[in-house]
Amino acid sequence: MVSYKKLGLVNTKKMFAKAVKGGYAIPAFNFNTMEQMQAIIQAAVETKSPVIMQVSKGARKYANPTILRYMAEGAVQYAKELGCKKPQIVLHLDHGDSYETCKSCIDSGFSSVMIDGSSLPFKENIKLTKKVVNYAHKHDVTVEAELGVLAGVEDEVSAAESHYTKPEEVVEFATKTGCDSLAISIGTSHGAYKFTAAQCTRDPKTGKLVPPPLAFDVLKAIEKKLPGFPIVLHGSSSVPQDCVDTINKFGGKLPDAVGIPEEQLRKAAKSAVCKINIDSDSRLAMTAAIRKHFAEHPDHFDPRQYLTPAREAMKEMYIHKIVKVLGSNNKL
Ligand code: 13P
Repeated sequence: MVSYKKLGLVNTKKMFAKAVKGGYAIPAFNFNTMEQMQAIIQAAVETKSPVIMQVSKGARKYANPTILRYMAEGAVQYAKELGCKKPQIVLHLDHGDSYETCKSCIDSGFSSVMIDGSSLPFKENIKLTKKVVNYAHKHDVTVEAELGVLAGVEDEVSAAESHYTKPEEVVEFATKTGCDSLAISIGTSHGAYKFTAAQCTRDPKTGKLVPPPLAFDVLKAIEKKLPGFPIVLHGSSSVPQDCVDTINKFGGKLPDAVGIPEEQLRKAAKSAVCKINIDSDSRLAMTAAIRKHFAEHPDHFDPRQYLTPAREAMKEMYIHKIVKVLGSNNKL
């Protein structure tokens, strides 16, 4: 058993309470590689922002759970080396799919876990979440739960259709489970194709898809039922069109990729939404930079040559999100 406290990590408790009060959201960036980790930490240190580094089931399979845990420990030391005396870094399990996975993460130094029982019937979701909460709280680890279903595919989590969270269920769920935060479904979805063309309108000038707005009425109703309770938004990449254009220009094929407009995330961050999950935008920034680099330098074959601009592009993207969308800069 390794306590996250020994690794210099923190749980989400104080961070979320402060964010809800202050009307901003904490960035939750997924990571699989060293370059993503470095870019996340550089961005968080430069902007003086707390940050959640999250690991999905797919990331654990890709990078190896032990390596990821040591990377997070390294991230704390790296932040200090970059000049941040007291970094606030959470190591979070994204979409934990069983009690056993959550327990194994808690035992190996995670400071926060998500148990995603959203595909289960309501009562079973409560039962599973409560079991995880009981174990996690013994170790001062915070737990995110989910009610409602997000559409889209993310690593091994997928659903064909979204179902908005039912506001009338949230009080019973939060009370009976004792969870620390709640991920809700209000129209966001995982991946770079959040909406079909049929769900969108098209901008006559650019020909780009314009997505439908998020269900802010549902968010408002949930906030009313659970005043001050930390709410989480998954599937919140904006799918920057400059990245999509660069990818397509240099040999990629991502027609009609579309995300959540940043002004809607800005609005959500000012409410009880205090954690916003972003993964796809980092993948897009990295891919765009690498495709461009290969097209411009066909003779390059040293990974450092193309991963350096990729890391820089991700860092710029993370800084942009922190400062211009979530508002978590200068909140350490
Ligand atoms: P995106 O695919 O929109 O980046 O969502 C990531 C996410 O919600 C991770 O849980």
